[in-house]
Amino acid sequence: MTTPGTPVPPQINPPPQINPPPRLLMGPGPIDADPRVLRAMAAPLVGQYDPAMTAYMTETMALYRGVFDTANEQTFLVDGTSRAGIEAALVSLLEPGDRVLVLSFGRFGHLLTEIAERCRAEVHTVAAPWGEVVAPEAVEAAVRRVRPKVVATVQGDTSTTMCQPLADLGEICRRHDALLYCDATASLGGNPLPTDAWGLDVVTAGLQKCLGGPSGSAPITISPRAAEVIAARRHVEAGLRDPDHDGDPAPPAARIASNYLDLAQIMEYWGPRRLNHHTEATSMLWAARECARVLLEEGLDVAIERHRLHGEAMLAGVQGLGLRPYGDLTHKMTNVVAVHIPDGVAGDDVRAAMLHEYGIEIGTSFGPLHGRVWRIGTMGYNARRDTVLTTLACLEQALRTAGAPVVAGGGVGAAREVYAG
Ligand SMILES: Cc1ncc(COP(=O)(O)O)c(C=O)c1O
Repeated sequence: MTTPGTPVPPQINPPPQINPPPRLLMGPGPIDADPRVLRAMAAPLVGQYDPAMTAYMTETMALYRGVFDTANEQTFLVDGTSRAGIEAALVSLLEPGDRVLVLSFGRFGHLLTEIAERCRAEVHTVAAPWGEVVAPEAVEAAVRRVRPKVVATVQGDTSTTMCQPLADLGEICRRHDALLYCDATASLGGNPLPTDAWGLDVVTAGLQKCLGGPSGSAPITISPRAAEVIAARRHVEAGLRDPDHDGDPAPPAARIASNYLDLAQIMEYWGPRRLNHHTEATSMLWAARECARVLLEEGLDVAIERHRLHGEAMLAGVQGLGLRPYGDLTHKMTNVVAVHIPDGVAGDDVRAAMLHEYGIEIGTSFGPLHGRVWRIGTMGYNARRDTVLTTLACLEQALRTAGAPVVAGGGVGAAREVYAG
């Protein structure tokens, strides 16, 4: 009997089994996962200390060394979306009051600032207008002025489609004794990112862009010198502490402010000790492993070249339709293009027509670019000739319906010329 006044739980009639509509995801990510990745995710579960599981974890570490082009021992997965990887990196590197220099040239630079502020770091920024990137000389001048512990940047900022040049930054940071962190969520696997050759200390990513998987796992790689900084803050949970291994816990001032995203503990979870931390997200491990396996089977350089080719075809195609690309094209990411929405055209109506008439998703952007540009991606499993040509053909029709002036056949024709070489 229920007490009078107790709320009665609503009666739930379970809905039918999930059956999403077929979509071609040609926005800035997520994109359609490679069917091989989805099949891998359906593999049965095993326990987290089953030797089969730990062997897959070790194998996944090795595969991601290939993807990140690094020899870093500390290369593994953070469970959560890409943002979990970013937070893990920043909260594990930055102590309250540490100085961090953030390169900011789009929405995701603002995100780095936001996360670093929440770590209670002293945040300085070196910014470029949206649609541009930050010049290495400006970074060096800011590093001299700020003397940061960490320099943090995004490689490909999907909000503006700009790809920050990184080749000089590692050397600048080493000369000034700073660590270099990079968010490569949207660029890894489709743009060059030789972690060791460029002197990047920590790089994080996600699966849902050029790696052709679903969101929910954040691959990370950590250089030995960054791992040392993180390990110095090690604080093993009281319930796991073994006096022979763990010594004294880190004092509260140095302790990493997040337990879940504590890279010092997560490094030991993935390392030979297998120190208990979270329960590894097994189906996401299968997904991440398959994303890396598929990429390396294709060849990292071949995959990057594929992104370059289809990105170039999409760029030529939108220009062929009469659309004006956004931003500095010399620094455009390979895998996404932004175009100005033509005057007088209702951008959301065109996106809705693309989705509901043709089953194709394209995106707009954020903040000052919301409703001003469309973003069209060619990445991961969807960086293909058929997807590029279909998207351009349908976009032409959607533009025509919206009353925009379009060049008949101009999109498909220009893209085909790129393919003809
Ligand atoms: C450059 C960049 N960083 C971070 C994120 C956040 O990723 P997630 O939504 O997987 O947390 C995105 C997502 O689009 C991104 O493009």
